Amino acid sequence: MANNLITIDGPSGAGKSTIARLAALRLGMRYLDTGAMYRAITLACMRAGVKLGDGEAVAAVAKQAQLRCELSLDQPMKVFLGAEDVTGKIRTQEVTRNIHYIADVREIRDLLVAMQRKIGENEEIVTEGRDQGTVVFPNASLKIYMFALPEVRAKRRYNELVQRGQQVSYEEVLQDVAKRDYLDMDREVGALRKAPDALEIDTSELTPEQTAEEIVKLAKSRLAMRTRKIDKNTLDRMRKTSGLS
Ligand code: C5P
Repeated sequence: MANNLITIDGPSGAGKSTIARLAALRLGMRYLDTGAMYRAITLACMRAGVKLGDGEAVAAVAKQAQLRCELSLDQPMKVFLGAEDVTGKIRTQEVTRNIHYIADVREIRDLLVAMQRKIGENEEIVTEGRDQGTVVFPNASLKIYMFALPEVRAKRRYNELVQRGQQVSYEEVLQDVAKRDYLDMDREVGALRKAPDALEIDTSELTPEQTAEEIVKLAKSRLAMRTRKIDKNTLDRMRKTSGLS
C-alpha cells in the first residue's frame, strides 16, 4: 500500500465518525465515512419505491444512483445522489432501520468496496466502517477496532438524535443498537469483525478527543506521521457538526 491509510471498524455508536474525523484532522488526512455510502444507497432505494428485501431490485437502483462522496480536510464528508446533496437526509431512524436490506446485498457491497478502494488509492485517508480493515483494505498501515458497552453507545446515539430534534426514547435506541449489532455481525459478506492485526480501543470511558489522541499517537509511532494542531475555529465547527461536547 503506497499511501498511509488508517482503518477504524466497530459497532454503531462506538464514536467512530467523530473520532475518525478528529484523528484525520490532526494527521492532515481525509476522512471517509463508509456508513454514509450505505445510507445514501438506502435512501435511493426507499425513494425508488422498490421492495427493499428484493436484492436484485435494490442492486439495480444502487447501480443507477450516481453516488458520489466529497471528502474534505476539515468538513464532514458530503454524499450526493446525482446533483443532490443528501448528507443531512441520510441520518433518519427510517434510513437506519432499512440499511441492513442494502448492506446485506453482495452486489451492492462489491460496488461500494470498489469505490472505497479507489478513494484510498488516490489519497491518504482515515476510513471508518465495519469491514475496512478486514475486507476493503487488508493491507492498511494501521487498523483500529473500536468498541464500547451497548448502554454507552445507545446513550450517545440517543443524545445525538435528540440534539437533531428527533423524538425517540432511550429504550427504543438501545433496542436498535442491539439489533444493529446482531445484523452487522451476522452478515454473510462484509460482517463486522476485528481484523487479527487490528488494535482494540474501548471508548466506553474515553472522550472522543482522548480516543482520537490515542490513534494519533499510534500513527506517529507506527507510521512516523507528523501531526498538526487543530485551530480553535475548526474545532468549534466540529463541535457543532458532530455532537462533540
Ligand atoms: O456507520 P453507520 O452507523 O452510519 O453505518 C450504517 C450501517 O451501514 C451499519 O449499521 C452497517 O449495517 C452498514 N455499514 C456496512 N459496512 C460499512 C459501513 C456501514 O455494512 N463499511
